[in-house]
Amino acid sequence: MTAERITIDGAAETYGIVGNPVHHSLSPVMHNAAFAFLGMNCVYIPLPTRDLAQGVQGLKALGFRGVSVTIPHKEEIVRYVDVLDPVAGRIGAVNTLVIGSREDAADRTVYGCNTDWVGANRALEEHIALAGSRVLLLGAGGSARALGYGLLEAGAEIVLANRTADRGEELAGSLGCDFCPLDEVGNIEADVLVNTTSVGMTPAVDKTPIEQRFLHKFSVVMDIVYAPLTTRLLREAAAAGCTVVDGLSMLLYQGAAQFELWTGRDAPVEVMRRVLRERIK
Ligand code: ATR
Repeated sequence: MTAERITIDGAAETYGIVGNPVHHSLSPVMHNAAFAFLGMNCVYIPLPTRDLAQGVQGLKALGFRGVSVTIPHKEEIVRYVDVLDPVAGRIGAVNTLVIGSREDAADRTVYGCNTDWVGANRALEEHIALAGSRVLLLGAGGSARALGYGLLEAGAEIVLANRTADRGEELAGSLGCDFCPLDEVGNIEADVLVNTTSVGMTPAVDKTPIEQRFLHKFSVVMDIVYAPLTTRLLREAAAAGCTVVDGLSMLLYQGAAQFELWTGRDAPVEVMRRVLRERIK
């Protein structure tokens, strides 16, 4: 599986990532590797963006076909899209713009979607059917919100736990699920545990959001943290006999879903996985 070197010429389709900052993003490497592997005349570039309203106008004027959207613009960009995907609307955040259509070169309609939840579901569904599964979701930030609505889409039942009760209860209320304080998660029975908190992320790699003695009851444990790739939570979950899903999987599959929305082609996920793994190492 070798990435081919192709020439980006004047007919190339342009894609990119809108955020501030974007220099740390792994998306350019992932998408350019996919384009190159499939021999597509497409290029994906970083687009550090301070003024989002002007930025979206610029994308349309300059003929971009699609972009990823990252921090701090995922919520604000909702107001600049022409057509909002219903799940992205419920989440209140967009991480993908598709601009125009393949059939009509003059079309500049901006479609807003969210593939964060699609990526998380796809990473989990490799190991367990989410429909009818019970999921303990840790956290109440933007990631928990996206993954929570996505889990509901898949037909899972959720219990949400968070350190700050007010914030957790509010998100649980909008998801229509039960809330549990983070220090009482030992009482929860579930098939799947998903950590969306930043606990365990570099540099605090010795931290974990849930005690090891509670882990044996979950079949699958997923951590969206990818620095480090094997968090303390995942190490302890593997030792407790759980199937573990690391943060690279969600990153990979949310990108694969973007690629498929933009190009209408299957994403070369193994190529994308390899370049992500090399970068994260
Ligand atoms: P994101 O948008 O990426 O989800 P966020 O909005 O900053 O990020 O949310 C971070 C999540 O990690 C929150 O659920 C936060 O809990 P609080 O709502 O109590 O702040 C959780 N979190 C961060 N540090 C934590 C810690 N040391 N212990 C427990 N939870 C923590």
